[in-house]
Amino acid sequence: MTRRRRLPYNLDGYRAAARRSLPKAIFDFVDGGAGDEWTMRENRAAFERHAFMPSVLRDVSECSLTTVVGNREMASPIMLAPAGLAGMIHPEGERAQVLAARRHGVIAITSSASTYSFEELTEAVPDHLPWFQLYPYKDRGFYGEMVSRAATAGFTGLCLTVDASAPGKRERDLANHLSVRPLRVTWGNVAGAARHPLWLAGLLRERRLVARMSTEALGQRRPPLRSLLRSAGDSAANLVELLPRQATWDDLEWLRETWSGPLAVKGIANPEDAKHAARLGVDAIVVSNHGGRQLDGMPSTLDLLPRVRDAVDDRVDLILDGGVRRGADIVKALCLGARACMIGRPWVYGLAVAGLPGVSGVLKILEEEMATTMALLGVRDVTQLGDSQLA
Ligand code: FNR
Repeated sequence: MTRRRRLPYNLDGYRAAARRSLPKAIFDFVDGGAGDEWTMRENRAAFERHAFMPSVLRDVSECSLTTVVGNREMASPIMLAPAGLAGMIHPEGERAQVLAARRHGVIAITSSASTYSFEELTEAVPDHLPWFQLYPYKDRGFYGEMVSRAATAGFTGLCLTVDASAPGKRERDLANHLSVRPLRVTWGNVAGAARHPLWLAGLLRERRLVARMSTEALGQRRPPLRSLLRSAGDSAANLVELLPRQATWDDLEWLRETWSGPLAVKGIANPEDAKHAARLGVDAIVVSNHGGRQLDGMPSTLDLLPRVRDAVDDRVDLILDGGVRRGADIVKALCLGARACMIGRPWVYGLAVAGLPGVSGVLKILEEEMATTMALLGVRDVTQLGDSQLA
């Protein structure tokens, strides 16, 4: 008789289980932030600075979590944020991300540093296509190639990440000597991996990743872009580090002219930048500080959200990204003007713990917690949440 594995009942439990499942250096790569990790902690702390004001004696026997982002209906206001190199966490990698998004009727945005190719991801979910995340590469030709390749593969939306003009200083990675580019393996990392045979077996099964890493180990760290795109597995992994990233507003303008589907810009904090992006016609603004992984010292995204909301009109969907660990957090963000929230680390913890069932488990917890919070608040529909539900 096979015993069913019990999955955690909250996201803290998933984080703790992910810590046990992964070698320390890999867990820290996912879990860590930049500098003193102050911004990362602030993303969480900000949710605790807001309290609810419930209304009682209302019929809340049925609560609706359904919403619309970029003209696409979602069963709940949760989006799976781009997280690169997910194949390093679990062999199902970003495939589990898109499959879980389909199972739960939400949007997945896959990273341009994905371990699966464009086509592998869209072919896995032809009836529930994901969005593609893009970095602002300076080279227009290459940029254009990425966009048309995403369109041909069937991605329905684009998300341009604009808060990574330099790599954040992630000190846990430095302490762990974790470096993928160039690949550096220390004895400590080997010993850490050996203590997690299940993870190691998964990684070795993921031949694509191993092939790529050995290419790097052999010193071919900068293959020509085109051959990289067409390389084993045809993945765009590694491009993030290979290309200059100092793009400008012109690049966003060009992208808006080129891409007719939903366009999101991720990494906006400044209300003036939000206004500018809205004028250029983006469909969604992701208020994000990259989960505290880039510029340490920025305010929490929840604190920034009302300021961004006041700067743009409601033709632009606002998406809050960073620090969401409870269904109640999503409800608070919606009260302050978000249309939906993105989760990054939480789905990656789920992936580390159990692959697709783990990512799905994380989404289920958030949905259930949201439904309970809504019922106790006396609100039947997420689209009716506003300032009046906060104390
Ligand atoms: C990320 N993030 C990210 N963002 C992006 O635009 N492109 C990317 O390739 C990645 N890669 C990535 C890898 C890993 C391991 C993590 C944890 C995060 C940032 C991500 O999309 C999101 O902004 C944050 O994770 C949100 O914060 P929380 O939900 O993790 O607190």
